[in-house]
Formats: sequence, structure tokens, C-alpha cells
Amino acid sequence: MEKHATCLVTGCAGFVGSHLVEALLQRGHNVIGVDNFFSGYRHNMANFAKHPRFVFYEEDIRASQLLKRLRDDHPELSVLYHLAAIVSVPYSVEHPEETLEVNLKASRDLYEEAQALNFETFVFAGSAAEYGEAASVPISENAATPFVEHASPYGEAKYLISKCIEDTSFGTSLRFFNIYGPRQDPSSPYSGVISKFLDCSLAGEPMTVLGDGKQTRDFIYIEDVIRAYLAVAGLGDGALSAVPGVYNVATGMGISILELAETVWALTSNTKGVLFGPPRAGDIMHSVADITRLEKAIGRFVRYSLDEGLRQTLPAYARATPARNV
Ligand code: UD1
Repeated sequence: MEKHATCLVTGCAGFVGSHLVEALLQRGHNVIGVDNFFSGYRHNMANFAKHPRFVFYEEDIRASQLLKRLRDDHPELSVLYHLAAIVSVPYSVEHPEETLEVNLKASRDLYEEAQALNFETFVFAGSAAEYGEAASVPISENAATPFVEHASPYGEAKYLISKCIEDTSFGTSLRFFNIYGPRQDPSSPYSGVISKFLDCSLAGEPMTVLGDGKQTRDFIYIEDVIRAYLAVAGLGDGALSAVPGVYNVATGMGISILELAETVWALTSNTKGVLFGPPRAGDIMHSVADITRLEKAIGRFVRYSLDEGLRQTLPAYARATPARNV
């Protein structure tokens, strides 16, 4: 019999959170969404805001007794997807205390409350930033140790929550590399490079490559990320029980930023090409994941090549432009 769960998604108005809510609702689950619109947008929830199995709470994850209150309102709540966070690495460097309050303290409180309330699982949005500048690629999960020097409070906090998860064996941390897809916001100077390249190309502007463009990244399409999210909570197509532990979520394939620019250029017939800008402070050179551990746990979860993923993403940028900052 198919299992129908009631899931809490923190950060439900964000790029990834909103895709996760949609996928859970499509599969028949009930979803409680929490967001304070610090970096999420109300328009990201347009497809499901009025869905009969979705309930929204405009709340900060630092609010006292948040999980207990939500559980009182929804006694069947049993799965916690925790995505809400300060997501900008540079912002975290400028605001270390606020970042530690949200990304570390509030996250740890939610994690402990979920255990105390006997949740089935807690799925955490970890990050490749937990590895700092890795000694070699591909990067396996064991490369994150207490001795890694994190370049930002963001990386530090993500690592400490993943470590709690590893040490207690309750829940799952998914360490995402570079995610892309429709609804990724291209408007900030620190937006994901794919969102910026697509946005510029469709607007007839040149793409800006920061540095020499030889730095590599491992880009994963949002639908593949969502497949991993569902599977580790036991809500995917395979196993019906949660998969605890810490896992990289990426494709295992690196591409240089220059090659990425060429790919976008070919796809969009951008006539302006690229400009080169100064390298970004603190930029890491190579970030490519070893995904063996997650593949062993949930099977093959990467279905999109970069080219296919970009083709899926492109139309959303063409349409999204006027309404982006609503
Ligand atoms: C990414 C994540 C971040 C995560 C970090 C962990 C995104 C959006 N960010 O940062 O959350 O914590 O990995 O390592 O996925 N670039 C250009 N031109 C641009 C924009 C960027 O050349 O217009 C370059 C950057 O200098 C960088 C690369 O593209 O070398 C990727 O940048 P970005 O998409 O911002 O992601 P990361 O810095 O890898």
C-alpha cells in the first residue's frame, strides 16, 4: 500500500523547497510549509499555495516551540525536511552571529525537538561548503572532518549539523553541490552561476566569467535533487523506509565554468559571448562529488545530463523575468 505521510518543509518558498513541496503533494502527501520570506518568494508557492493538502505558516525557524506548536496543530506530522537557512555564503561571512543563530542553533533545536517528538526522520540540507577547499576531487563524504577549515560560518554550521546527524544516526544530511533549475533567483550578485548565465543570455547580455573560468563545479538538476530527497525519507519509488546518514548529492561529473558558458552560449544562441571579471574572493577551485555512497543507498538518482537539464530550465527564465521580484 502506498504510504501517505505528513511532512514539514522549512524554507518552502525557496527555490529547492518549493520544488520539494510540489513533488510531495503530487505523490499524495500532506505538506506543512514554513517560510519567513528572508530569501524565498511568495510567487514560488503559486502552484500550491491553495492546494487542499498544503498549509502555510509564515514563521521564523527561531520562533519558540515552533515544532511542538506545529505538531499540536497536526498530530500526524512525522517527517521534517529542514531547508530553511541563510543561504548566501558571503552574507554569512558578513553576519556570522545571525548565521550561527539560524543555521546552527535553530537547526539543532529543530533536530533535537524532532527526536524528542518521535519524528520518523529529519532530512537536512547540507552543503559542499562543509568540505572547505578539498585536497582532491572527487570529494567523498569522509573528507569533512573537524579539522577542515571552513571559509564561512555557513560551511561551519552546515558541517556541525551534519555531524550531529552522523553521530546520532537519526535522520539524513544531503550535501548538495551546485543545484540548478527553474525558479533559481538570478538577481543577487551571488546567485548561482547557471541562473545568471541563462538570465544574461536571454536578455542579450554577455555572461561574466569570474577568474579564468578553469574552476570546476558539479551541477545537478533540481528534479534529480528532489528524487534524492524523496528516497532518503522513504517516500520515493524504491524503499519505503528512511535512509539515515550523510550523503553527497551531485552528478559525479565536473565541468569548468568556461565550458558551461560555451554550453549556454550554444543553447541560447547568445551573440554577446563572455566577459572576464576578477576572481571571486574565497572561490574554491575544484568541487566535484563522489556519489557512490548515495547510489549504493538509493540506486541511480541522476537522470539528467547538464544539456538536458539546461534545456528544461531555459523556458522558465524566459517567462520569469517580469515577475521575478514580486
Ligand atoms: C555553491 C553554492 C553554495 C554552496 C557552495 C559550496 C550555489 C548557487 N551556491 O557556491 O550554496 O555553499 O557551492 O561550495 O549553488 N561565477 C562566474 N560568473 C558568475 C557567477 C559565478 O564565473 O556570474 C563562478 C564563480 O566564481 C564560481 C562558479 O561560477 O567559481 C560557481 O559559482 P556559484 O554558482 O555562485 O556557486 P559556488 O560558489 O560553487
